Amino acid sequence: MPPFSGFFHLLLWLSLVFNSSNLSKAATIPKPDCPTECGSLTVPYPFGIGVGTGCSVGFWYDINCNTTFDPPKPFLFTGNLEVLEISASKVRVKNVVASTCYSETGTVTGNNTVSISLKGAPYTFSQENRFTVIGCGDFAIVGDGKLEMSTGCTSICSQREDLIDRSCSGIGCCQTVVPKGMQDFFTSVLGLNAHQGIWSFNPCSYAFIGDQNSFMFSKSDLSDPTLGDKINEDVPLVLEWAIGNQNCSDVQNSADFVCQQNSECINVDNEVGGYRCKCVNGYQGNPYVSSGCLDVNECIDSPCHPKGTCSNFPGGFNCTCPGGYVGDGRKDGQGCTSEGSSFPVKQLSLGLSFGFLALIMSTVWLYYTVRKRKQLKLRQKYFHQNGGVLLKQKMSSNGVNSESARIFKLEELKKATRNYSRDYILGEGGFGIVFKGILDDQRVVAIKTSKKMDESEVESFINEVVILTQVNHRNVVKLFGCCLETEVPQLVYECVSNGTLSEHIEKSKEMPWFSFEWRIRIAYESALAFAYLHSAASPPIIHRDVKSANILLDDHYVAKVSDFGASRLIPLDQTRVATVVMGTMGYLDPEYLNSGQLTEKSDVYSFGVILAELLTGKKPSSPGARITGEGTLANYFTMCKKQGYLFDILEPRMRREGTVEKINAVAELVIRCLELEGEERPTMKQVAVELERVGKLAASGGSMEEEYDEGNAETVSLISEQQDMYSVHSNLHLSDVYTTHTTN
Ligand SMILES: *[C@@H]1O[C@H](CO)[C@@H](O)[C@H](O)[C@H]1NC(C)=O
Ligand SMILES: *[C@@H]1O[C@H](CO)[C@@H](O)[C@H](O)[C@H]1NC(C)=O
Ligand SMILES: *[C@@H]1O[C@H](CO)[C@@H](O)[C@H](O)[C@H]1NC(C)=O
Ligand SMILES: *[C@@H]1O[C@H](CO)[C@@H](O)[C@H](O)[C@H]1NC(C)=O
Repeated sequence: MPPFSGFFHLLLWLSLVFNSSNLSKAATIPKPDCPTECGSLTVPYPFGIGVGTGCSVGFWYDINCNTTFDPPKPFLFTGNLEVLEISASKVRVKNVVASTCYSETGTVTGNNTVSISLKGAPYTFSQENRFTVIGCGDFAIVGDGKLEMSTGCTSICSQREDLIDRSCSGIGCCQTVVPKGMQDFFTSVLGLNAHQGIWSFNPCSYAFIGDQNSFMFSKSDLSDPTLGDKINEDVPLVLEWAIGNQNCSDVQNSADFVCQQNSECINVDNEVGGYRCKCVNGYQGNPYVSSGCLDVNECIDSPCHPKGTCSNFPGGFNCTCPGGYVGDGRKDGQGCTSEGSSFPVKQLSLGLSFGFLALIMSTVWLYYTVRKRKQLKLRQKYFHQNGGVLLKQKMSSNGVNSESARIFKLEELKKATRNYSRDYILGEGGFGIVFKGILDDQRVVAIKTSKKMDESEVESFINEVVILTQVNHRNVVKLFGCCLETEVPQLVYECVSNGTLSEHIEKSKEMPWFSFEWRIRIAYESALAFAYLHSAASPPIIHRDVKSANILLDDHYVAKVSDFGASRLIPLDQTRVATVVMGTMGYLDPEYLNSGQLTEKSDVYSFGVILAELLTGKKPSSPGARITGEGTLANYFTMCKKQGYLFDILEPRMRREGTVEKINAVAELVIRCLELEGEERPTMKQVAVELERVGKLAASGGSMEEEYDEGNAETVSLISEQQDMYSVHSNLHLSDVYTTHTTN
C-alpha cells in the first residue's frame, strides 16, 4: 500500500517567462570543461550537467546532478524528474503511479493522484507510452487538468479467474494510447464499487503512464502490495524532446540554429513543434557539436564484391571492379561480372534449344505481365478517382503516423478475407457488406465495402477517413485505414464482435448480465465517446446517426461507437452546418428536421432516445410511425414521464434493479436530452457527468456524500481542488528557475 496520500507534482512552471526558443547564443557551443557523467548517466550535448552553467544548449537541457545522493542522481533542470536515459530523440525518466487503496469495508485508505506538467518546455509525452489502469472495476481518466477529456480507461472483472496473464484488454488491466503532443498529464483512479466483493484479491487500483514495452500485466499484480513501487522502478516515462518550438525553415538561417556540419534539420511532428538535428547519411556522431558528425568508414563492413576494392570517402564509399570486369562492385548491387566472354561453337546447338524454350516461357510470362499491368492500371485509376493522392497528402500533412492510419493494398485485404469468401461475411445491409479479415500481423479486422459514391463526395469521404484515423478513443471503433484500389473504397476497422446494443436490448431476457448497472455503464461509455467527438476532436465531429444499432459491444461488453458514414466535421468557426437531413426514424431530432441546421445537440437528442430504450426495452419507433410525432418512443416516454406513468413503461427488470432515485435521475436526463429546443439540451459532456453520477449512486447504494453541483457540471468530480495546489507549486518553482536562469 502506498505509504502516503496526496498529489505527486512533477515539473511545474509557466511558459510565459521563458520562451523556449530563445536559446542563449553563447551556449550553442559546448564548453570544453563540462562534466559529461552524472552517476551512471552519460549526458550528451545539447544536454549538459549543471543548472545555469552554460554546459547545455539552454535552460531546458540542463541536467541538475544532485550529489547529495550516492551515487549522484541526475534531474531534468530544476524539476523533480529523475533522468534514466537520454537518447537522440527521447529522455526516459523515473515514473510515479497514481493509486487508490481500500479497506475490506470499502473505505479509502490511500489515494495518490499524479500530475505532470511539461507546458512551456520543449518536451512532450512520447507515443511510446501507454496509459494503463490496473484493478478490478476501476476507472481512470487522463486529463490535462482542465479535463479536455483526452482519454479514459475502464478495467472490469469480478473474479480472479477472469484475469489473463500478459493481456491488457480491459479485464483487470486496460491500456490506451497517449494523445500526440500531450504536455500535461493528470490522473486519479477510482474503484467503481469501492472494491467490494473483490477486495480479497484486489485491494488497490493503479493508474500510470509509461513505456509500453516495460510493463507486462500478470494476474498476481492485482494482489501485489508493492506493485506501485515496482512500476516506479521498472517502467520509465518516455518524453520526446526537441530544440525550441520553431520549425527548421524558421530557424535554419538564424543565429540560434544549432545543427552543425554534415547534419540535417528534422521537424518534430507534433503541435508543440521544434526541431532536432541528425547526421546526414554516411556520417555518425553528435550533430549538435561542431565536427560531431564523423564520416563512417563503410569499408570496414566489406560492402563490395570479393573481386572489387572498397574506397571510403567522406559521406560514402566507392567500389571498383578490377580490369576486365564490369558492374558497380557492390555486394548488394550488380557486383563485378567478367566482361565480353566468347561463345564456344560446340555449345551453340544446346544454347539454341534452351533459347527456344526460353522464348516460349517469356511469351507466357509477357501475357501474364500485360494482364497484371492492366489490373494495376485499373487499380491506380480507382486509387486516383477515390482520392488516394489527396488522402496521402492529408495523412502526411496531418502527421498521422503510419501506425494509426494506413492505406491498405487490395492484395492484403484479399488475403485477409480469403478472397472475400462468403464464410467471412459478418453483416450485410443497404450500405454494403462487412467482412471479417485476418491481417498478416494476426490482427482481426472488419472490412466494410461502402456504397458507391460520386466524385463530389470523394473529398468529404477522404476528410472523414483522415479524421477518423486520428480519433483515438477507447469507446470509438478504431479505423485502421482504407483501401482505395477498388471502384468503391473499402474501410478497415477494428473488429468488435459481440453485436450491437440494439440486439442486446431486443434479447435482454436472454442476457443475465445486462443489468441496470451495466446499462448505465454502457451508456456512460458511449456518452464519453460522443463528448470526445464533440469537444475534444478537432475539428469537432457530429455523428449524425446516433442509434443503439450503431453502438457495438466488444467481448467485455465495452461500448464502441461505430458507423461514421453520415458524420460531418464542423469547421472550427461554426457551430451549425446546413445539410441534407439524414438520420434514422425514431432517433431524428425534430429541430434538425425542421431547420436542416445540424448541431451537436442533434446527437444529444438521439442519445436521449437510446437512454429511453435502455430503460424501457422498447423500440424507438413503431413500424407505422411518421418521422416524428406519435408512435415514437421519444414522445411516448416524454408523455408518460409528464403524466406520472413512467414506472409503468419500464422494463420490469429495471424496476427491480434500479432505485427510484437512480431511475428518476436517468429519466430526467432523458427528458432534458429530448427537449425540442436544441439549446435547452445538455451537452454530451454533461450527459456523461450525470451518468457517471448515477453510476456512483448505484455503487454506494444510493447514499451519496458528495453534493452534485449543477452549475459545475462540466467538471468531472474526479478532478478537483488541484488547481490551487498547482499554482502554489508552480510559483515556488518559478522563482527558483528564474534566479538560476538570470545569473547565467
Ligand atoms: C539534492 O537533493 C536533496 C534531497 O532531495 C535536496 O534537499 C537538495 O536541495 C538537492 N540539491 C540540489 C542542488 O538540487
Ligand atoms: C514553419 O512555421 C511557420 C510558422 O511559424 C509556418 O508558416 C511554416 O509553414 C512552417 N513550415 C513548415 C515546413 O512546417
Ligand atoms: C566514386 O565513383 C564515382 C563513379 O563511380 C565517381 O564519379 C566518383 O568520383 C568516385 N568518388 C571517389 C571519392 O572516388
Ligand atoms: C482522491 O483524491 C482526489 C484529489 O484529492 C479526489 O478528487 C478523489 O475523489 C479521491 N479519490 C478517492 C477514491 O477518494
